[in-house]
Amino acid sequence: MTDASFDPRAAIDARVDSPGREGLTGTAPSDRYASSADPEDLSVAPDFRPASVQPAWRQDFPIDWPQDHYVARRDFTKFMILTSAAFTAGQLWIAAQNWWRKRRAPSPVTRITTVDEIAVGGVQVFRYPSEHDACVLVRVGPAEWVAYSQKCTHLSCAVIPMPAEGVLHCPCHEGRFDLATGRPIAGPPRRPLPRITLEVRGRDVFATGVERRTS
Ligand code: FES
Repeated sequence: MTDASFDPRAAIDARVDSPGREGLTGTAPSDRYASSADPEDLSVAPDFRPASVQPAWRQDFPIDWPQDHYVARRDFTKFMILTSAAFTAGQLWIAAQNWWRKRRAPSPVTRITTVDEIAVGGVQVFRYPSEHDACVLVRVGPAEWVAYSQKCTHLSCAVIPMPAEGVLHCPCHEGRFDLATGRPIAGPPRRPLPRITLEVRGRDVFATGVERRTS
């Protein structure tokens, strides 16, 4: 049953910071309810109707609606400061990484093999730029070579070159990369394999750098 003549907005000042609420829970006018020993008992229902017409269960869950919807200026400021701090930290992290990348020593030039050691369609595993970085070199034509990091860009399993099919295959989750470009063409990997730049000097094949790509 609802009282059609009842105007909840006129009956209760919904502003949490109104003077009439002072001394209570900070949520209801002082003359609205019978005084209570426990100020936490005082609340304003979502429909703003008096406590006497509220269902019995609401006494067990006395949500104070204005208080519930009140966002203090201090809370809002806190939220803005935290959000801004997180954003600034992210930007600083990106800037630091860029700075670190620029300062890194230039890639070493490392001899991998000679052109006479690998036939067309042949493959050689080598380490570059450090002893911990396994890479694969594939001779795709008489004067064409490609080399990639052997670490799959999905979950780092070792990829296996399959020159006859023109792919590098990752056995862990059936990922496949195009042999000519190193880009993913099947399975879960989304990023291309880092490409090792090569130079043939005389009869020797050298690794000269690592090209990390995101797409
Ligand atoms: S690790 Fe290569 S496809 Fe998952």
